[in-house]
Amino acid sequence: MSDTAKPIRLLGLSGSIRRHSHCTAVLNTLADSLGNKAGGKAGGKAEMTLFPLNEIPPYDPDLDAENTPAPATALRDSIAAADGLVIISPEYNYGMSGVLKNALDWASRPAMKSPVRGKPILIMTASPAFTGGVRAQHEMRETLSGMMGRVIARPQVVIGTVHEKIKDGRLTDQAALDFALAAIDDLLAEIALLRGVKSA
Ligand SMILES: Cc1cc2nc3c(=O)[nH]c(=O)nc-3n(C[C@H](O)[C@H](O)[C@H](O)COP(=O)(O)O)c2cc1C
Repeated sequence: MSDTAKPIRLLGLSGSIRRHSHCTAVLNTLADSLGNKAGGKAGGKAEMTLFPLNEIPPYDPDLDAENTPAPATALRDSIAAADGLVIISPEYNYGMSGVLKNALDWASRPAMKSPVRGKPILIMTASPAFTGGVRAQHEMRETLSGMMGRVIARPQVVIGTVHEKIKDGRLTDQAALDFALAAIDDLLAEIALLRGVKSA
């Protein structure tokens, strides 16, 4: 199968490991929509799996040098196997969550050759505040750019008052869902563009 005909595989990372996380609920809803041909333009064009960050230990260069913990290796392998990443974080004290930053530190190694290098990435934030976690986005973009990830250029995806938009673990606010799906469309377009360049 040619590279351009292969189904697009997205990996979703949520910066919250909370059982009833709003951020994880947003990702799960997007994954559902992608699997559903009626789910907007992106529906049926790609699949998304989530990699939960619960088991990722605190980053320790000694551990990484001697015997990289299995969850960190699994994270790197999952990123390497994906065509693109969808990363959502809550805003914790005006930045991304420590859980996400720690996972990104693991993913960033080996330096200059990490699986994140060149990977198309869509970032999002969600918060019960009306600001939707927007203050964490600059840090996410900077950190991922430092790892040479290809954070796609587009207006920020922020979901404010998210607690009013989630029901039974799914994003039920259609406007917010359409807003996020439009960003997924942009990510898929970037992946298609890069595939085209590679096969040219
Ligand atoms: C340590 C901590 C710091 C927080 N700081 C902020 C903040 O700076 N801005 C904000 O909008 N919300 C802040 N919040 C609220 C989180 O955005 C909120 O708990 C959110 O629902 C967490 O995401 P989750 O539902 O995916 O777990 C903070 C929460 C915690 C626990």
